[in-house]
Amino acid sequence: MTSTLIIGATGPLGSEMAKASARNGDRLHVLVRPATAGNEERMRPFKALGATVHVGDLDDHGSLVRAAGKVDRVISSVHVSSASEMTLVRALREAGVSRYVPSAGFGLDFAAAAPGSIPPLDIKRDVFSAIKEADLPYTVIYTNGFFSTWVATLGDLTRFGSSPLPPEELTLYGNGNVPATFVSEKDIAAVTLRALNDPGAIRSEIRIAQNKITQNEMIDLWRRVSGRSPRILRQSADELEAMIAVAPGLGLLRAFWIRGETALETATPEAGALYPELTFETIESAYVAMAGAKGQQRQG
Ligand SMILES: NC(=O)c1ccc[n+]([C@@H]2O[C@H](COP(=O)([O-])OP(=O)(O)OC[C@H]3O[C@@H](n4cnc5c(N)ncnc54)[C@H](OP(=O)(O)O)[C@@H]3O)[C@@H](O)[C@H]2O)c1
Repeated sequence: MTSTLIIGATGPLGSEMAKASARNGDRLHVLVRPATAGNEERMRPFKALGATVHVGDLDDHGSLVRAAGKVDRVISSVHVSSASEMTLVRALREAGVSRYVPSAGFGLDFAAAAPGSIPPLDIKRDVFSAIKEADLPYTVIYTNGFFSTWVATLGDLTRFGSSPLPPEELTLYGNGNVPATFVSEKDIAAVTLRALNDPGAIRSEIRIAQNKITQNEMIDLWRRVSGRSPRILRQSADELEAMIAVAPGLGLLRAFWIRGETALETATPEAGALYPELTFETIESAYVAMAGAKGQQRQG
């Protein structure tokens, strides 16, 4: 039986990775920080999945080598600095694993986004270079936009975290007619496990480009499904540029809604074409579920 270690398994993506790995029949291992290990409620899902728990930290080289030494493959789904990711790269080189899915991929395809335009992506690019230099058997999964980050905010990243449901007020960027692509965390996990079981995916990159939609279409879809009419503020490309000068992380909004970089065709194989047996959740089905949750909240 194959054993898989997930680092970041308490996060929105990592928890789906843990469930998908268990469904795949893997012997599941998770590495959690000491505070999480001491929190019974946060540990409950791992107990239910029969996971072996390793206490450690991405910044603790020894803990990574010990945990990785017990498994065949490692998935990292932690949003951290390049220094922490580099520690993991060094540890995996020492431990030796048969496959490594780095968190560096869970965003835009490096081939689509221009270097220098999005600081977090440049960090991921550097990590990917280190992975290749270390000659690790990687599989990078480019996801483009996550449902929980982009679909739930009607494409307005600045609303992320305010509510799991679409906002009552949001900003439309540019003319609203530039397409972008989105995928649910559950489907990212399904693609990842499929690729882990594919020997042909070693030292390769895979791009998920599903659910192509413009921000105008996304808002219209939510209106139709929920009967709600969110208030729309507008920000031109030039106004967004001024915001990016102050907050460079907002370069992601330019990549999605001005430059259309998540919908660009690149040479990277697309997951749906590569694995046609996989089906993907639609934005409409996500909105139907959210509208149901919203109705229940109002009644409650
Ligand atoms: N493309 C998109 O739309 C999009 C959206 C969101 C995220 N992402 C990407 O997806 C990946 C995962 O993001 P995420 O938001 O799911 O991650 P996250 O929630 O930031 O991190 C997942 C878990 O990692 C653990 N963690 C944090 N620092 C750690 C450390 N030093 N050592 C060990 N564990 C640590 C935390 O667990 P504890 O607190 O329990 O220790 C946390 O719950 C990242 O690469 C991120 O950039 C992409």
